[in-house]
Amino acid sequence: MSTDRDLQKKNAGYRAAEYVEDRMVVGLGTGSTAKFAIQKIGDRIQEEDLDILGIPTSLETAKRAKAAGIDMVELDEANKIDLTIDGADEVDPEKRLIKGGGGALLREKIIAYNSKRYIIIVDQSKKVEKLGISFDLPVEILPKWNEGIADCVRRLGCETELRTYQEEVYRTDNGNNILDCDFGGIDEPEELSKELNSIPGVLEHGLFLDITDKVVIGKEEGKGFEELD
Ligand code: A5P
Repeated sequence: MSTDRDLQKKNAGYRAAEYVEDRMVVGLGTGSTAKFAIQKIGDRIQEEDLDILGIPTSLETAKRAKAAGIDMVELDEANKIDLTIDGADEVDPEKRLIKGGGGALLREKIIAYNSKRYIIIVDQSKKVEKLGISFDLPVEILPKWNEGIADCVRRLGCETELRTYQEEVYRTDNGNNILDCDFGGIDEPEELSKELNSIPGVLEHGLFLDITDKVVIGKEEGKGFEELD
């Protein structure tokens, strides 16, 4: 059944798909909002006979893109990424993000970093004044010495939970684990990002800072959306 939130996601996804142009290499995000952009890009390829190559940010997205009729390449086969469209778990007024709810943060960040343009698509619930209050920060860690790495992360002032899925320890597409970290609000995301990056065994974290060019936020009426540049 379609909900108001689904309509917001669809409006954001469809709007972002309009930024795709013929002959682009496009990074394809992961999650229930990116799904709509992928569908629309697939439709446009058919209807407008566009020559587009997609780079998926996860195995799940690769399946979706294939079903939508989008040809794909791997990151190391493409010599450029013109545009990436991806979802997010939180967006603050400075377009800083928390990502990784779907566990794809490592590949998502590599693709974002290598994209000429990065567009984030969200529903209204993702807008926050401060990061890390309503969503725990995902941190991808090496699947060895979980407790030791978690200890180091906790010293930065959070509680951690090793992510599980169907009663098993969750594994990312890269075979790693995720720590979901509750900081009760993140006062200085740039500082925290540096500190997390300095912990051996932390492979990536879900703070995406100073990387987003545009946020498209879907509204629930008609084809409504607002954009943050
Ligand atoms: C995937 O790892 C995440 O970064 C997603 O982009 C994020 O969780 C958004 O997903 P939804 O669009 O399903 O909320």
